[in-house]
Amino acid sequence: MPALTASQVLTKTVDVRPGEFILIHGAGGVTGGMLVAVASELGAQVIATASPGNAGRVQSYGATAVVDYHADNWRQDVRRIAGEGGVRIAVNAVGGAAPSLMALVANGGKLTTITSDGPATERGVGVVNFYVSPDGEALDRLAVDFVDRRLTLPIAAVHRLSEAGAALQMAVAGKARGAVVIDPTQ
Ligand SMILES: NC(=O)c1ccc[n+]([C@@H]2O[C@H](COP(=O)([O-])OP(=O)(O)OC[C@H]3O[C@@H](n4cnc5c(N)ncnc54)[C@H](OP(=O)(O)O)[C@@H]3O)[C@@H](O)[C@H]2O)c1
Repeated sequence: MPALTASQVLTKTVDVRPGEFILIHGAGGVTGGMLVAVASELGAQVIATASPGNAGRVQSYGATAVVDYHADNWRQDVRRIAGEGGVRIAVNAVGGAAPSLMALVANGGKLTTITSDGPATERGVGVVNFYVSPDGEALDRLAVDFVDRRLTLPIAAVHRLSEAGAALQMAVAGKARGAVVIDPTQ
């Protein structure tokens, strides 16, 4: 689901142009990491926010720069890399953080959030609250691509299908520290 979310966000809500800077906020998380992987595959130069302990993994997904969001001046770092005007596209994967990203998006740019916290539009910035839709064929293609690229994810827990409800609760609570896997063969 994280990979499918990332793919749908970056193909259905924004038009990524090869070589341009885009901002992925929350790249240390599972979905944020997949957003980096898909955006870099589409040719974007990704500025990602994450904790230092996740910087190496986020770089392995193809990020051009990883900014530590704990630093007081992390927004200045983003501007220094992308240019004073900000990024044309920002994607938020951190609950409640989308409004704080608006100032980093260039006039007429796009801000997509997956955490239902899109702010009101301003300066012509298009704001989208996005929700993933099931698509097994697209997921198959993404899985093949990720295996080909030898991408890895931290796995927080593996559940049986009968435990799917508890697994979903764990993932939605945002405290899993890695992917929550349902293995129907167990
Ligand atoms: N709309 C949809 O269709 C859809 C689909 C999938 C997920 N979601 C939602 O998207 C959110 C993220 O999902 P996820 O699976 O990626 O969660 P996750 O793996 O639990 O992400 C947690 C990570 O977010 C990072 N983070 C926390 N606070 C941050 C902050 N203030 N600034 C920057 N990064 C911060 C941390 O990274 P560090 O460890 O690097 O600090 C943390 O490890 C959840 O709310 C989930 O419900 C929505």
